[in-house]
Amino acid sequence: MINIAVLASGRGTNLQAIIDAIKAGKIEGKIKIVISDNPKAYALKRAQACGIDNITFPYKNYKTKKVYEQEILDCLISYNIDLIVLAGYMRILGREIIKEYRHRIINIHPALLPSFPGLHTHRQAIEYGVKISGCTVHFVDEGMDTGPIILQKAVEVKQDDTEEALSDRILVYEHKLLPMAIQLFAQNKIQVKNKKVYIKE
Ligand code: GRF
Repeated sequence: MINIAVLASGRGTNLQAIIDAIKAGKIEGKIKIVISDNPKAYALKRAQACGIDNITFPYKNYKTKKVYEQEILDCLISYNIDLIVLAGYMRILGREIIKEYRHRIINIHPALLPSFPGLHTHRQAIEYGVKISGCTVHFVDEGMDTGPIILQKAVEVKQDDTEEALSDRILVYEHKLLPMAIQLFAQNKIQVKNKKVYIKE
């Protein structure tokens, strides 16, 4: 059983997918804490509804990013966290946390990395005119969406797609891929060699 921390800034549908997968016995782990930078994040309500500890660190309350990151790091350590899951967390994690939890932080990104990192992913994909996009679960490193790729799922981009329509279609697969990656981690099936992920059978 691994101890999981989920960091989320918004509506938290990916958090919900993890909660549901745990309830269904599909993840050998427990969400010990949900952390947000946004007091209004609906993700916090989802955690409360399930009796999961949750805490907000509003960024503007801290003098420096270093102090902000240290608070989060202290919190993670106090909960004895094995895996940090970024599920719509809209901040770049600080180097200290990344160093402490190397290859123990995963993120879900709604495109097929290394294409379209960063923000406004669906808009980028539609404007570029790609015919296939999708989602990626990857480890977090110091770059922007550049860490080792764990799982990907391709989704067709339709000719008349809007950002919303594409986002909705990809989201369905995010909700499958993220719990799947967490379970692989929980089963200790993920190995990283030279920036590449190998999944043990
Ligand atoms: C998802 O599309 C995720 O890929 C991206 O942010 C969005 C978060 O959605 N990183 P939700 O808050 O999990 O509903």
